[in-house]
Amino acid sequence: MRRVTVNCSSNYDVVIGKGILDETGRLTKQVCPKAQKVLIVSESNVAPLYMDRVKSSLTGEGFAVFEYVFEAGEQSKNIASISGMWGVMASNGFTRTDIVLALGGGVTGDMAGFAAATFLRGIKVIQVPTSLLAMVDACIGGKTGIDLPQGKNQVGAFHQPSIVIEDTSCLDTLPDSVFTEGMGEVLKYAYIMDTELYEILSGAEDKADIRKNLDLIEDIIARCAYDKAYVIGEDENDNGLRQTLNFGHTVGHVIERDSNFTLAHGVCVAKGMGIIIRASVLSGKLDKDKADKMISLIEAYGLPSEDDITPEEAREGVLNDKKKRGDTISVILVTDIGRSEICKMTADEFLQFLKRK
Ligand code: GLY
Repeated sequence: MRRVTVNCSSNYDVVIGKGILDETGRLTKQVCPKAQKVLIVSESNVAPLYMDRVKSSLTGEGFAVFEYVFEAGEQSKNIASISGMWGVMASNGFTRTDIVLALGGGVTGDMAGFAAATFLRGIKVIQVPTSLLAMVDACIGGKTGIDLPQGKNQVGAFHQPSIVIEDTSCLDTLPDSVFTEGMGEVLKYAYIMDTELYEILSGAEDKADIRKNLDLIEDIIARCAYDKAYVIGEDENDNGLRQTLNFGHTVGHVIERDSNFTLAHGVCVAKGMGIIIRASVLSGKLDKDKADKMISLIEAYGLPSEDDITPEEAREGVLNDKKKRGDTISVILVTDIGRSEICKMTADEFLQFLKRK
């Protein structure tokens, strides 16, 4: 079992290993010794696979366990689901020392975290991610929230978990497309901050089938967790360095929303990265040969690097971006492989940046 420590307002570990789902009860007891009750939040695809194991690991340590299972998908990420979670906790006498445990991917982690952040003004949350995307990014760092019809993650709170438990065997049951979208976030770390990860990813033999190499995948997950832990340690509240994790997301979120969430998040991030990489070359911020390598690697991992979104549509979309401050948005540019820069632009400057031909 590997441990990566996140040093921030409340230090916690990300533990990574094969089969550690069965350790959930013991690990939970260690970090939350006063807790008596656990609400497991999961979704309709994941619960049938892993709920019973997690539940029996927790009951084995003496916890009283409750469940809230929602219909899988971004369409469930709303206040009605949160209200359902609050209801189960309120009816069963949860107190501030009790726990919400997120068992699933990014949507589950965001919602369970938000329910925990708000119930009784904040109870404990434990993240148990089952998707690659959630393991490498979403479940570390305490971002929680729900969507509004106007946009993704428009309501939320920072609420750090007590521990993150990543059982890499859970990746075995992921559909190929869900695994592949997670590689979008992995590539992001390589491009913004981690040249060694870039070397590992570009040197991997069967890129389209990398999921078969579980040892390598575990190394990659641990590397990403370490990168994320470093970023959170420097900028927990997203005022500086953490914004670089948004590489590809500014345009990616617009594409995702315009597809009515039929396109997966990691796929949209990959498209967003490709669009920004190409625009960066045209504005003299990035060498073409480096950009070509980055684009080829995105495609080698089975992800798209382009989209037919127009610069005008992208501009319109970012006007709603929750990261907009006053009249400016922070656009993340990669100026070399492994090096990123935050570039403040107005929406019109962003339009000109994307329109450069
Ligand atoms: N997923 C980006 C962040 O945690 O800031």
